[in-house]
Amino acid sequence: MSAMANRIKELPPYLFAEIDKIKQIALDRGVDIIDLGVGDPDLPPPKAVIDSLIDNARKKGSHNYPSYSGLPGLRQAFAQWFERRFGVSLDPDSEVLPLIGSKEGIGHIFLGHVNPGDEVLIPDPGYPVYTAGAILAGAVPRYFPLRKSNNFLPRIDELEELVSPKTRMLWLNYPSNPTTAVASLEFFEEISRFAAERGILICQDMAYSEITFNGRKAVSLLQATGGKDTGIEFHSLSKTFCMTGWRVGFAAGKAEAITALAKVKTNLDSGIFIPIQKAATTALLNCQKEAKEIRGTFEARQKMFVTGLNKIGWKVPMPEATFYVWAPVPEGYDSMKFCTHLMEETGIVCTPGVGFGSYGEGFVRMSLTMPDDRLKEALKRIKKMKTEWVFK
Ligand SMILES: Cc1ncc(COP(=O)(O)O)c(C=O)c1O
Repeated sequence: MSAMANRIKELPPYLFAEIDKIKQIALDRGVDIIDLGVGDPDLPPPKAVIDSLIDNARKKGSHNYPSYSGLPGLRQAFAQWFERRFGVSLDPDSEVLPLIGSKEGIGHIFLGHVNPGDEVLIPDPGYPVYTAGAILAGAVPRYFPLRKSNNFLPRIDELEELVSPKTRMLWLNYPSNPTTAVASLEFFEEISRFAAERGILICQDMAYSEITFNGRKAVSLLQATGGKDTGIEFHSLSKTFCMTGWRVGFAAGKAEAITALAKVKTNLDSGIFIPIQKAATTALLNCQKEAKEIRGTFEARQKMFVTGLNKIGWKVPMPEATFYVWAPVPEGYDSMKFCTHLMEETGIVCTPGVGFGSYGEGFVRMSLTMPDDRLKEALKRIKKMKTEWVFK
């Protein structure tokens, strides 16, 4: 008998394993790798956040189990940040829940909201955790396509066709990883109505809420009429304040879904380290200037890198948000072949679009979480290798 549970065997294969293998071979050969594969910011968190962590780590009472639902001050700080940012007031006790990073809540909400055999609508391409969470909870993923021709938004008629009496959840992610697309309030209004009429919970992943460009501000699902009754939104300090390793995020929205998620969490985890909660409070209340600087750095990088790609003939649209570039692969390649080719010719690692779903085929994702000099070096190498790329 296999040592693994069936649900583990059902998880999709790790499609990036092949790239990791080729990368390792290159590293062993001493190649100077430029890794644009992982979305992990190279910038430091605000100084005040680090100072707060250190100060609080020295205090008595900081080292015990934290409360399951987080410090009231942290929940209030998030509600305050949310109201200032989106103009929506949240009850810090029933509509806000701190998470050990948004990924933790994204994975756990399935256990709180779906029964085995229930169906979940998931974007293709999309963040792979939605599929994993569904499968681990015994639910069935149903994928809807995100096409460039529809600005990487779902089409309501296509969603309609996928809905069955078993549909319990619909996942959205705007600003989007990997497509970099942003959604409008009108879109959230329409999809909220669609979900409310069918009793479907919307889970909107807003990990990149603050990484938007050209003065554009991302809108929240909870701003839509009835948004708080239809949906729950996942927020994160990881990208906004460059705190990926700290593991702190939030769920916000529909109280019933928050209660279910909290119940799962009280049974499985023991909250966030208290000094991290205090430091996160500092970030939310006092570090707007630093968040703006972080956004500015990513925006400048996008402009420099994408302009550079276009100059050398790689036709890539300027992203509206996130620190990713979602670039079409030239004719004659699929995304995996192209990543392998790029890696072998230039030492640049990027992520094949097909790793995010079948509609990601034809694209590669590059993460601009590298200093400018490395990105300029990447451009130089691509220019040198590029022969006659043709784009559809
Ligand atoms: C779309 C998306 N959602 C959620 C996360 C998880 O972020 P965290 O768990 O660090 O808050 C990521 C991380 O890369 C992401 O890309």
